[in-house]
Amino acid sequence: MSSPGTELPNHFELLGTDGAARTGRLTTPHGVVRTPAFMPVGTAGAMKGIHWRDVRDAGADIVLGNTYHLMLRPTAERIAALGGLQRFTGWGGPMLTDSGGFQVMSLSALRKVTEQAVTFRSHIDGAKIELSPERAIEVQRLLNSDIAMQLDECVRLPAEPADIERAMRLSLRWAERCRRAFESAPDGYMLFGIVQGGDVPALRVASAAALVDIGFHGYAIGGLAVGEPQAVMLEMIEATVPALPGDRPRYLMGVGTPDDLLESVKRGIDMFDCVLPTRNGRHGVAFTRFGPVNLRNARHADDPRPLDEESPWPPARSYSRAYLHHLIKAGEALGATLLSEINIAYFQLLMAGMRAAIAQGQFADFYARTKADWTRGDI
Ligand code: GUN
Repeated sequence: MSSPGTELPNHFELLGTDGAARTGRLTTPHGVVRTPAFMPVGTAGAMKGIHWRDVRDAGADIVLGNTYHLMLRPTAERIAALGGLQRFTGWGGPMLTDSGGFQVMSLSALRKVTEQAVTFRSHIDGAKIELSPERAIEVQRLLNSDIAMQLDECVRLPAEPADIERAMRLSLRWAERCRRAFESAPDGYMLFGIVQGGDVPALRVASAAALVDIGFHGYAIGGLAVGEPQAVMLEMIEATVPALPGDRPRYLMGVGTPDDLLESVKRGIDMFDCVLPTRNGRHGVAFTRFGPVNLRNARHADDPRPLDEESPWPPARSYSRAYLHHLIKAGEALGATLLSEINIAYFQLLMAGMRAAIAQGQFADFYARTKADWTRGDI
């Protein structure tokens, strides 16, 4: 038990650094996460169309779930009664949950933000729901989330600096309330604060410093990949990272493309989540070592080659592009499943490559080789 301002135990161990890039281990109640880590998104307690076994086999140590979806259906109380999210879903391993505010903003109607809470109408049945910082933590504790996120307000860019600052200050007050509400969590469970501040470096630094004063197990950078160019996102990471403690995990929320991951790890980020591999997979796009391949394109209809004959993930080296093209064009569920898995496996391969390269002091080489492969242009 500890109140804001007292230091929380650190479950992150740095194993190696190479420039600003780091590799380490984050120990959660449900297992160890190797970093840099990419968390596939299982929004509503499922990795759309994919077995957990395959998510694990593809190399993921940790997955993300969403407070917003799960509190509405099947409800956090029901999941708690059924043994928590890890047992309820059968995933069994580490789970991070987002706190809900970000999803409220994008999915629900009639949302209203006050000092006390965000209120909204459920996108499922229209019920009016209040999500306060205290309730966001209560829900995430009921879910038995290994890593809970503070409730925050994220502003889409471009936005006026005054609006960005108002949301950032509100997020800081909510951070303190979340930290208090988390005090009774058992040992080993973690709470991350979220840096906001839009595209204003000084606000990013002020947000990070205030969060560090409150004290969290780890620190996320939110409010990015929300409409700004990649260069702005990278500039914000560069402004924020030096204001965060070197011994705590850093998580860039909602990011990103393979190139975003490479550039962000280079700048000191340890964790990521994004729907890109699964959402793009469902839409017929495969990520490969040689760049993205849109399998809807008619040029694949007669192509007997696999996506990557050297891939360690069997479906990427066994099924022909022609068959994958057919499955996607025919709307077969197997097409979405195979491409989502191929993409999760590619993202995990990229993370594993970065971890090994950092450990060996060869990140610059890996970075150059990976970028050269992406732009080879003969796929
Ligand atoms: N997911 C992507 N960006 C954000 C953010 O700024 N806040 C939260 N809570 N989740 C996110």
